[in-house]
Amino acid sequence: MSTNGTEGAKRRVNFKILRYKPGFIDPPRYDTFAIEVDERMTVLDALEHIKATQDSTLLYRHSCHHASCGTCAMKANGREDLSCVINVFDLDSDNVVVDPLGSLPLIADLVVDMAAFAERFAPLGMTLVRESEFAKECEPPAGIEQYTRYEDCVECGACLSACPVANTTPFFIGPAGLAAAYRALTTGDRPAKQVFAHVDSSEGVWRCHGAMECSAACPSDVDPGGKIMALRRELVKYKVKRIFGSREE
Ligand code: SF4
Ligand code: FES
Repeated sequence: MSTNGTEGAKRRVNFKILRYKPGFIDPPRYDTFAIEVDERMTVLDALEHIKATQDSTLLYRHSCHHASCGTCAMKANGREDLSCVINVFDLDSDNVVVDPLGSLPLIADLVVDMAAFAERFAPLGMTLVRESEFAKECEPPAGIEQYTRYEDCVECGACLSACPVANTTPFFIGPAGLAAAYRALTTGDRPAKQVFAHVDSSEGVWRCHGAMECSAACPSDVDPGGKIMALRRELVKYKVKRIFGSREE
């Protein structure tokens, strides 16, 4: 309903969704589902409606429904975003193609394996649990207090999927991992030597081609592409300083 109490606009939209079930729907294929959407409906709403009314085997991930957990990222008409914030009307098409994120192993339908994404944070010790998540009444497992994450980032994987370099190699640290490294450097969370040892490689900052697709895709304004460029500048300054330092000795 619109704010003046009248019926809002509706339209019929075909959702062409990638399907994959190892051993059952294999190789992947697209299935098309036609549903009526209203002007407030998101792509995630549409998937939930399709699952409830047409195909209960449809698999996708979500949790919060309000752009904070990062679990629902996928592609709609070729663009990465959180499916809980993609308004179907805004796509301005009667045909919406829904794909899982790229550059990550496909598990089933729209679900990808995020372990390969999380591993990109691991060399800097940024994994799994935020310090603020420790419950006071519980004893955390040994060593876990050193684990931190990059809190500006909802770890959705959209940047990795949008990155043209990450689409060609699984070894590139990738936009979110490099943005997290920049933050670790500038906040002093990790020693400069450790950060630069991690990123100064052909699979680190130097692999980025500056396409900036990651920053365009990021739903959380992290600007990972900008952070990669800033990290490069800091790395160059670090190296120059080391060269001048050794000449003065
Ligand atoms: S940097 Fe942005 S796009 Fe990449 S994982 Fe974090 S929130 Fe998602
Ligand atoms: S469901 Fe949590 S970000 Fe979309």
